[in-house]
Amino acid sequence: MTDYWAHPTALVEEGARIGADTAIWHHAHIRAGAVVGEGTVIGKNVFVDAAARVGARCKVQNNVSVYSGVVLEDDVFVGPSAVFTNDRFPRAFGPWQRVDTLVRRGASIGANATVRCGIELGELSLVAAGAVVVRDVRPNELVGGNPARTLGWVDVRGEVVDRGPERPPDLPFGGIEEVLP
Ligand SMILES: CC(C)(COP(=O)(O)OP(=O)(O)OC[C@H]1O[C@@H](n2cnc3c(N)ncnc32)[C@H](O)[C@@H]1OP(=O)(O)O)[C@@H](O)C(=O)NCCC(=O)NCCS
Repeated sequence: MTDYWAHPTALVEEGARIGADTAIWHHAHIRAGAVVGEGTVIGKNVFVDAAARVGARCKVQNNVSVYSGVVLEDDVFVGPSAVFTNDRFPRAFGPWQRVDTLVRRGASIGANATVRCGIELGELSLVAAGAVVVRDVRPNELVGGNPARTLGWVDVRGEVVDRGPERPPDLPFGGIEEVLP
């Protein structure tokens, strides 16, 4: 008996931990050891690796692979076909050198963005569609381009409140609880 829903074509390996009220769509694959929080939506063709963690109330859109070493905290949005990495200097031979990535609560990653491993995306930050992120992103910071640079600052609802390089002093931190249904 499970208290989450998975489409019949999804593969949820024994030993994966899935929270209540989570939905797992067509052809998704959740490996043994993976953790997915409650109330999360795992899109079509999403892969969650053995040592990856996805928080509660996240939305992981179609065709995203969440590799081992990637941690998505609660309320994270990952746009369609966004790409995580977990080896900074990859080779097909020799030992795997895993490098972790942390996506803080409430952050959003746009469609088709690439997130290089070893970085932290701050709380409520927003990565533009198609960005290549190679450095830490500050809380509420909006970044885009390749390499991704500061485009401005967004509030808890994702609206751009400033287009300067530094955080506006009147932009509050956090506030997710106030907008949760
Ligand atoms: C980054 C984003 C939030 C900016 O929104 P916005 O401020 O309304 O965008 P605007 O069209 O007013 O553009 C503002 C500036 O940002 C630039 N910009 C907009 N989107 C960009 C992107 N994806 N990458 C790089 N630069 C971008 C524009 O060129 C413009 O620059 P300029 O002032 O030098 O001309 C938005 O374009 C975006 O990428 N959202 C994510 C969409 C997504 O992937 N959703 C996933 C669910 S489907």
